[in-house]
Amino acid sequence: MAEHNLLEEVQHAFEARFQAQPDVVVRAPGRVNLIGEHTDYNDGFVLPVAVDRAAWVAARAIDDPWATIRAVDMRNEEAIFTVASVPASVGGWADYPKALVWAFLERGLHPVGLEAVLTSNVPVGAGMSSSAALELAFAEAWAALSGFEIEPRELAVLCQQAENEYVGVNCGIMDQMISACGKAGHALMMDTRDLKHRYVPIPEGLALVVADSQVRRSLSNSAYNARRGECEQAVSLLKQHKPDIASLRDVTFQDLQRYGKHLPETLLRRARHVVTENQRVLHVAKALYKKNLDEVGVLLVDGHRSLRDDYEVSLPQLDVLVEAAIEVEGCYGARLTGAGFGGCVIALVAEDATDDVIAHICEVYDDRFGNRPPVYVTHPADGVSREG
Ligand code: GLA
Repeated sequence: MAEHNLLEEVQHAFEARFQAQPDVVVRAPGRVNLIGEHTDYNDGFVLPVAVDRAAWVAARAIDDPWATIRAVDMRNEEAIFTVASVPASVGGWADYPKALVWAFLERGLHPVGLEAVLTSNVPVGAGMSSSAALELAFAEAWAALSGFEIEPRELAVLCQQAENEYVGVNCGIMDQMISACGKAGHALMMDTRDLKHRYVPIPEGLALVVADSQVRRSLSNSAYNARRGECEQAVSLLKQHKPDIASLRDVTFQDLQRYGKHLPETLLRRARHVVTENQRVLHVAKALYKKNLDEVGVLLVDGHRSLRDDYEVSLPQLDVLVEAAIEVEGCYGARLTGAGFGGCVIALVAEDATDDVIAHICEVYDDRFGNRPPVYVTHPADGVSREG
């Protein structure tokens, strides 16, 4: 559903449920990552894009210290919980707004009670950060209603802590930062070590085609944490030879050539992915400035192969989608996006070639796996905003 329809939908649903007008309506986008995968928890570089699919929250403050939230896209399920103390976790979507109550209270901030309606068109579990979108939408709505002045970067950190500590998913900072700070027409080049960022223009006439393998694997899944653990092990082994490294961000390709022999083969490949991926992010950003899309495309495909062979987070479904996309004239490059182990592939495509790319990847995927992947054509959008 188009963005403006969701604004109307969430407003109407609020009025129907609470017999009142909302005080605030907030939208917070999902994202795709152009490049810079599994670098954010290694203090590295990322280059994500906020997309024109978002979580929407309509809300009003109430005098009682309770939150009543209806999730329109979850069969109108409702959650009711206290905001005066840390609410109990029972799993499911309501853990995200509950996690924010925890995070505000941790900071000594007391969020107001509220009535809210939520809806979202970010596909859930597809690797497009539906949870970060949900967190940012509620964080911004609560900040607006409670009179908290929190700048977007800080809001992103608060949401990440909420997800790490309360929800129990050990994600990095990328998804929350891009949902908070995205800019239409641009990717966000970010150094996750100090959260400094700048905007890199995406040339006109391009679309980001997102194809969903529909293979689902949750991030609390041990494979993601296992990769994080392997990176930490690689750092502690490399430190014995180069004491001043704090994370894989500090390791160069030359370091790996020199000291790699001290790492078990698997750890060497994990480290090599992170080290080369950081370089690719910097190169892609430069190539985008120069509008050299062929170069961008080659780097995206290199990134995918590194995730497939060195980091081992791809799947045959994702590989087939990437290889099919790059066969089509007008597709510059493609790669898996997000954590991997399932989820989506993105293809950077000339706008007038999107239909050809979609037709081809769907046909190839159907031949091989017997179903057609859902496909979304997206464009770079703004980060969290108050609407209506
Ligand atoms: C998930 C996490 C991010 C990041 C990516 C991999 O999306 O939430 O923090 O680690 O995986 O790049």
